[in-house]
Amino acid sequence: MKRRIGILTSGGDCPGLNATIRGVAKACYERFGNDVEIVGIEDGYFGLINNMCREMNQSDFSGILTTGGTIFGTKRTPFKKMQVVEDDNVDKVKAMKNTYKKQKLDCLLTLGGNGTHKTANLLSEEGLNVIGLPKTIDNDIWGTSVTFGFHTAVNTATDVIDRLHSTANSHGRILVCEIMGNKAGWLTLYAGIAGGADMIVIPEIPYDIEKLAEACEKRKDKRFAILAVAEGAYDIKEAKMKKKERAAYRAENGITTATSRIAKQIEEMIGNEARVCVPGHMLRGGSPSAYDRVLATKFGVHAAKLISKEKYGYAVAMIKDNVSENPLSEVAGKTKFVPQDDQLVKTARDIGISFGD
Ligand code: F6P
Repeated sequence: MKRRIGILTSGGDCPGLNATIRGVAKACYERFGNDVEIVGIEDGYFGLINNMCREMNQSDFSGILTTGGTIFGTKRTPFKKMQVVEDDNVDKVKAMKNTYKKQKLDCLLTLGGNGTHKTANLLSEEGLNVIGLPKTIDNDIWGTSVTFGFHTAVNTATDVIDRLHSTANSHGRILVCEIMGNKAGWLTLYAGIAGGADMIVIPEIPYDIEKLAEACEKRKDKRFAILAVAEGAYDIKEAKMKKKERAAYRAENGITTATSRIAKQIEEMIGNEARVCVPGHMLRGGSPSAYDRVLATKFGVHAAKLISKEKYGYAVAMIKDNVSENPLSEVAGKTKFVPQDDQLVKTARDIGISFGD
């Protein structure tokens, strides 16, 4: 039985995408031998809409285990626009189905985060054979305890925080480190603990600036303090607002990011110099950690297993330490937030880390 498999990477990139692609490909060539053909789809769903496809050879998947980024390229094609016909007059869902047909695909593998899973589910409902693989440095995909890319990003963010300690100490400053994570604070929580931050601020626990200032004040004898702040953090006042309202409030008050506001307010309140550090996309770059390479390989191999069983409409996941899968329909559209009583939150509190609440 011949199998033609399309693979795409969608949304923000992260370390481990290539390792996952390689895992899938190697496992497929191993299982199906000459009976498999792999088609690389460029730039995510944008490439699927526009039939930007590449015939792949087995050798194309060698030497990519350790490389960052994605050999296929990626793009953000928001789910909310997928069923909307815009100025270009393209019916995107129809176009994606056409490419699938034109390329004579038997199945489509989508490597991505929450948005990617939503479109994967839509295509599955439209009758395509789809398997999703969980990628994101945010670790916020519902139904899987871990996503590939997260572990590497934790290492990178931890390294950044580690480096802030000495310079903060030398200058007697407060260093506010902004860590990616717009909705969920997993990355900030893990890196904050691993990097020995004094305060961790995440979207799931809105902060009170008075409490953060108090925690900084308490560290005055130590000369410096480190705050790990998720980019999507907001304060207790903003917590009561809807997303749009919050954006309007920030625009009106000249607030650009939570980190810059925290730094400014703390400097004014306690009189210590405060600086902001934004590692930004550095957290998404570089070679995957050993852990992520192994995880990516396990996920890739599992996807090949699902293909051999023709089990479609599923998202690969880590469930109770076992690689398994969830129906796409059950996970798409849900975000895995940090529970306020998460064990790791408690661990952090138990060693005196303040969440500003
Ligand atoms: O979803 C991953 C992520 O890195 C988020 O943490 C961050 O908010 C977002 O992507 C940034 O996206 P972009 O690269 O499109 O600016």
